[in-house]
Amino acid sequence: MKNGVRLVRPRVHILFILLAILMTGVMLGLAPSSAAQSAGFRNAPASAAEMKNPYQSASAAAAGKKLYAQNCAQCHGSNLRGIGPAPALDRAPVKDAKPGELFWFITKGKLESGMPSWASLPQQQRWQIVTFLESQGTAKAETK
Ligand code: HEC
Repeated sequence: MKNGVRLVRPRVHILFILLAILMTGVMLGLAPSSAAQSAGFRNAPASAAEMKNPYQSASAAAAGKKLYAQNCAQCHGSNLRGIGPAPALDRAPVKDAKPGELFWFITKGKLESGMPSWASLPQQQRWQIVTFLESQGTAKAETK
């Protein structure tokens, strides 16, 4: 029976090691992804939140205002209050979003719910729209 015992032990050992590797993988894999989902505006990645807006002057806001009227107002309203399925842009969660997160979302859009992608607009114009949005509406503190 000595030989029999020797054959069984290594197998049990390997099973435990495999189980431990599996459990570690599950824990490492699940924890960050569930944290990322509750993080930024519309699940924006951290890299989006870190982007800095290079166009923040008053003239950038004025340019953004024109671009908004041309491209966004027909759905979100000339007063930013939203029309139908297009939400208001002058309050939370937009007011609480970081500039880079707004830039990211505007670039990507969400076609399946009716928000076009604006990747075709030059980067500068997308940032100018972000600058305009941030210059409008309720202050962050008041919406919370
Ligand atoms: C054809 C209609 C349409 C146009 C044009 C449009 N949007 Fe939207 N937008 C939507 C809809 C519908 C949603 C909601 C999508 C969703 O919730 O998934 C949305 C969502 C958004 C959001 C997210 C708001 C939130 O509360 O989560 C932002 C920001 C936004 N749009 C900005 C813009 C900007 C800036 C422009 C112009 C460059 C623009 N949109 C043009 C329809 C439009």
